[in-house]
Amino acid sequence: MKSKIYIGTNTKMYKTIADTVSYLKELKELTADIDRNLMELFVIPSYTALKSARETVSNDIIKIGAQNMCWEDQGQFTGEISPLMLKEIGIDIIEIGHSERRHIFAETDSQLNKKVIAALKHGFTPLLCVGETLEQKQLGISDDCLSIQIKAGLNGVSKDDASKLWIAYEPVWAIGVNGIPATAEYADEKQGVIKNALKELFGEISDDIPVLYGGSVNLDNATKMIRKPNIDGLFIGRSAWDASNFNNIIRQVLPLFLEKRKAS
Ligand code: PGA
Repeated sequence: MKSKIYIGTNTKMYKTIADTVSYLKELKELTADIDRNLMELFVIPSYTALKSARETVSNDIIKIGAQNMCWEDQGQFTGEISPLMLKEIGIDIIEIGHSERRHIFAETDSQLNKKVIAALKHGFTPLLCVGETLEQKQLGISDDCLSIQIKAGLNGVSKDDASKLWIAYEPVWAIGVNGIPATAEYADEKQGVIKNALKELFGEISDDIPVLYGGSVNLDNATKMIRKPNIDGLFIGRSAWDASNFNNIIRQVLPLFLEKRKAS
């Protein structure tokens, strides 16, 4: 059982620098009374907003992540962003393998693995996203796909580094405007599959790795999700892009998480 809830958002390609700064200021203010020992709050804005985002909030209040990162420190990689550049501005988390990166930009498990290794090398928290497509679900191979994505994506990660990982389970068919949210039962079961794969790789240390659910999370299903034993947190898109909506979700799920923690 995790000691705190993990809850955050990826703002995708939506907020400008000005939008991001005002969003973060509002979110910081709305959540100011919440003890950060109970909640790891994070926001993953677009690249251009990262520096201003970092200057707006300190990492003990809201962690800031990048939506992507190159595995090389420097070189002839036009359009890519180096770990050194992200380190320079004090970024905490690197989101790796979001479904839109895998499926629109054709990122492979082996590329994502190089990003995980590079992120760890530079002291970032890698947030590896995994999830089956609708076709894989219909073929009944979701569990195999999830295990492969975990084992390929985390290949070569040492046991010492394992506790620095975060994982998000985001079924591809559940994400975005056309997504159908997974039921809490389904998500919990698949997160169990992910946790088993992590245990195979890292043994008991894998208990330290938070596994978050993402994909059409909203105020209603968030409360059902967070009660489930295998769901350590939430990774939210649209429902979190308004700071006060996000705050409402946080206020609903935090007490439920604490109840779950107490009962465990
Ligand atoms: P959504 O996005 O909550 O808008 O479905 C989730 C995600 O892409 O992480």
